[in-house]
Parts: sequence; structure tokens; C-alpha cells
Amino acid sequence: MNPFDAAGADFLRLAPLLWDPTSAALVEVAAPEPGDRVLDACCGVGSSALPAAVAIGPDGRLDAVDTSVALVDILRHRPERPPWLHPHLHDVTTWRRPSGGYDVVQCALGIFFFPVMADGVAHLISLARPGGRVVLSVWRRGSLVEVGEALLTAYRRTTGTDVDRPHSPIAAIDEVDALRAWSVDRGLSDVIVTEHSLHLDVDAEQAWLIVVGSGWRGLVESLPAAGRQRLRAAFADELGRRGVQTVQASTMVVSGTVPPRRAGPSLG
Ligand SMILES: C[S@@+](CC[C@H](N)C(=O)[O-])C[C@H]1O[C@@H](n2cnc3c(N)ncnc32)[C@H](O)[C@@H]1O
Repeated sequence: MNPFDAAGADFLRLAPLLWDPTSAALVEVAAPEPGDRVLDACCGVGSSALPAAVAIGPDGRLDAVDTSVALVDILRHRPERPPWLHPHLHDVTTWRRPSGGYDVVQCALGIFFFPVMADGVAHLISLARPGGRVVLSVWRRGSLVEVGEALLTAYRRTTGTDVDRPHSPIAAIDEVDALRAWSVDRGLSDVIVTEHSLHLDVDAEQAWLIVVGSGWRGLVESLPAAGRQRLRAAFADELGRRGVQTVQASTMVVSGTVPPRRAGPSLG
């Protein structure tokens, strides 16, 4: 099961705090135009798909693709969804290219969930038309660290068990130069990386929402109900002990152009 399925309603509640501002940064860079055909990969509840759909208007088409049954269902029923935004329950790493390809392929904070990040991104790039743009966002180094560290310590204190910090493939590309070089290696041209600083003032309740509305939720769900309550109390206590009142949630957005396909050898 997709870990984001269980997050469902909490993921949507978290959107105004976290997913909407980080997605706005992506869409600002992607800047889809009226009539564009857009793929929104890893769409969640539509934080980047909805503003992109507004930008392309009724002459465009936006395919929003995610593997979470719960999140795709929420997006499908959001009253703001225009008819030209089409939600699909599908693994985007096997999504089929429409004839001619997409003008814009965008993906907010999703590529590091692909089983093999480089292969998944190669597939996203293959879905754009020659001359089309691929725009991806990732966390910048240090983002959400305050929440993760406090949660892991609280988990250790509550259960007496050590849990490893999850390995993320973005550790190798979570700074501007590394992300730029990596994107050039993927075959994109005109690569530009922009940084988007975001610092969220949070109380213990909002910090907990970041836990249960994101990929961290899996750790909470691994405990029985009473254990979850104890973890939540220990987490609030840990935030207080560390004096955490602000959480860094900064992202980087990389934008690149898909080069024209090379012509095959001339037979003449
Ligand atoms: C951190 S959330 C970001 C969601 C959304 N882009 C946003 O910023 O609000 C990551 C999303 O990627 C989705 N996801 C992970 N792997 C996927 C895949 N192979 N194909 C489609 N969606 C995927 C998850 O279900 C989840 O909704």
C-alpha cells in the first residue's frame, strides 16, 4: 500500500501549510501557458496541478498522476478541479506518452519516491515533447530536519527502540550545484535551478500534522493506538526541549528543456 493512502485527510489538511506554498514555487517556474498539455507527476491532492490547470485554461489538458488511491480520489472530488484536469491512479514511471508528448512535465517533491530515482526521472523526461520543459522540485538540504529529528528521538524514548533515519536518494542532489549537474547528466539543456526559502512557524499541533500528513506517518502507524498517543506527547515534549518553533521547508526547483531528437542516419 502507498504510505500516503493512510495520510489521506491529514495530507489535505497539511496542504495550505506545506504542499500549496512549495507547489506554488514549482508552478511559478514551470509557468505553463494557455493551451499547453501538462503532466503533473505525483500530484497528491493537486497542490501544483490545480494552479497549473488554471494557467492552461480550457484549451489545455492536464493529466495528474499519482499512485495513492486516497489522494487521487480527493483530487477527483475537489470542487476547484476544472474539467480539463484529469486525475489518474497510475504509477507515473510507467505512464504512457501521448502522441507528440507533453509541453510541460512537472513534479513537486515526488521524484525521490521512485524505486530508482534516475530511471523514473528519465521516464518523465521521455514524456515531454522535444523542446518541451521538465520542471522538478526537491527539498533543499536541512528541510524538515527539525521534525524528523524530534520524531526519531521521541520514538526512541517511547519504544526503547532505535530507528534508522530513512535514506533518501536526494541526499546526493540537495544543493544547487549538485542538482544542476545531475539534471544536465539526465540530458536536459538550458538547466536552471532556483531556491525557494520557506520557514514555517509551527506549534506542536502543526508539527504533528507535518508528521501524520507526510511520509513520516508510516512510523506512527507502526505503533498500536496507545503507543501513537504516547509518541505524540513525547514528540511535543521533544519539540519544546529543543525550542523548535520554526520548521525549514525550503525547496529547489530545477527546470530544463528536452533537446530535439537526433535525426536517424541519412539513407540517401
Ligand atoms: C510528498 S508527496 C507530494 C505530492 C504533491 N506533488 C504535492 O507537492 O503536494 C509525494 C507524492 O508522490 C506520490 N508518488 C510516489 N511514487 C509515485 C509514482 N511512482 N507514481 C505516481 N505517484 C507517486 C505519492 O503517492 C505522493 O502523493
